[in-house]
Amino acid sequence: MLGRSPRMNLRALTSALTLAGLALAPMTSAAEAPIPRLVSENGRHALLVDGAPFLILGAQCHNSSAWPATLPEVWPAIGDIGANTLEIPIYWEQFEPEPGKYDTSIVDLIIDQAREAKVRVILLWFATWKNGSPNYIPLWMKAQPEKYPRMLGREDRPVHSLSPHASDTLEADKRAFRALMRHLREKDPPRTVIMVQPENEPGTWGSVRDYSPAAQQLFEAPVPIEALRAMGREHLAGANWDAAFARDADEFFHAWSVARFIGQVAAAGKEEYPLPMLVNTALRDPLSPPPPTHYQTGAPTDNVLPLWKAAAPAVDVLAPDIYLPGYAQYRRVCELYARPDNPLLIPETANAPLNARHFFTALGHGAIGWAPFGIDYTGYHNSPLGGDTGTPEKLAPFTLNYRIVGPMTREVAKLNFEGRLKATAEEPGVPSQVLDFGKWRAVVTYGIPFFGFATGAKGNPEPIGRALVAQIAEDKFLVAGAHCRVDFELADKSRLQRVYLRVEEGRYVDGIFQVRRLWNGDQTDWGLNFATSDLVVHATLGTF
Ligand code: DGJ
Repeated sequence: MLGRSPRMNLRALTSALTLAGLALAPMTSAAEAPIPRLVSENGRHALLVDGAPFLILGAQCHNSSAWPATLPEVWPAIGDIGANTLEIPIYWEQFEPEPGKYDTSIVDLIIDQAREAKVRVILLWFATWKNGSPNYIPLWMKAQPEKYPRMLGREDRPVHSLSPHASDTLEADKRAFRALMRHLREKDPPRTVIMVQPENEPGTWGSVRDYSPAAQQLFEAPVPIEALRAMGREHLAGANWDAAFARDADEFFHAWSVARFIGQVAAAGKEEYPLPMLVNTALRDPLSPPPPTHYQTGAPTDNVLPLWKAAAPAVDVLAPDIYLPGYAQYRRVCELYARPDNPLLIPETANAPLNARHFFTALGHGAIGWAPFGIDYTGYHNSPLGGDTGTPEKLAPFTLNYRIVGPMTREVAKLNFEGRLKATAEEPGVPSQVLDFGKWRAVVTYGIPFFGFATGAKGNPEPIGRALVAQIAEDKFLVAGAHCRVDFELADKSRLQRVYLRVEEGRYVDGIFQVRRLWNGDQTDWGLNFATSDLVVHATLGTF
């Protein structure tokens, strides 16, 4: 009888489930979406949102903008820049004004307003560490420094960073974070919030590690075997930190300690609600690393990523905040954090206009997301780290990125996951770059007029060019970009030459490429030229 009448079957199933005490509605309700999650394949990664690869076109507001009074100055900037995801803090001091009493009003407001704005959210839990300091812990914790102790530096000098070895601090953070995640689970079946970041730029300035008696005891004890294994030193089982890591011992010990702490906070939160979690980091210069006294230690800097992975498995993404000024540094950071065991996500980058093009650098390294920092209209500017993005005009270099990629985020995320996409940004003094697709090479050239050969190109007066090319069939490419020309050539030019068979200009609408016109004549004779429009091209190549 089953299968004969689908309507009857559904009714029968519904009443059976109701009798069994299971409500059908929440499972099938349009409002309940799958929980976002990360997937990895062949060393590449995708963030699944609503069950499909999603690209975070992010924007992070300023630190003090997550208040009812200032949210109206945040949303217009998020709308103007075209972000699909707002990264915004939740302040522990606001969330838990008294021990065990939680104020979820701002979380709720952010989520409600985000839904209205049709924007997703990444919540940043400003708690035990915010840029290494404990400034966001609740007042009742600040009033009890013996219970929630700061670290001790050398010679018992107090350091303005909480000790990762204090169990009361850990328990307090875990409890509050659990409450936040529990609330999110109840509040957010549509999954407006897609990721959560426990802490913010954790670690410490001013002392490489904690020298308190509790820390010292651990420092002198055998290194946990997982830490040794992570750093390829399992043959030193039984050694203490000094013996195992010599001059890196202080730094590695602190990284392990902070990572263990945050790993436990993240795991507690995930027990309530398993959203993907990231930890962001202040960086050390990856090209010429200074001594550890000169950067924030304890953080997931590039030299301790395996330690962090071993100590904090509940943290899915170790994410670089890129404020370094140089092109080579930017690219190197992307290389270092895009790992088979770590998706590249850049949750903060300086909002100086020339940084906008690095959205494409990130995409070229398989990024699942990218976000300039300080995007709102509250009137604060974080120069000299960035620029002034306080008006729609000043946001323009960033807006351009999201105008180009915004309509095809799902496609770009999927193509990147499949390893079919390459992207690049202009390097100062380098007028031409090649994206290698095997049989075909896409040559990207900067600073030439649309009409005429590319010979003698010097690059744009300022390095603002950016390009994205994806192979969508053997001889067919999706091309987009700004301030550049993209042309294709055969890798082997000895016998055959390239011809453009068909070049379609169009736009993605709901996953379908809608052709607006064909390019030919001047529009293809010199290559495919891109200025500042958001058009996308499908180019089919042939040979003769
Ligand atoms: C990095 C931090 O994570 C942000 O919260 C902010 O302080 C910026 N630096 C600087 O404005």
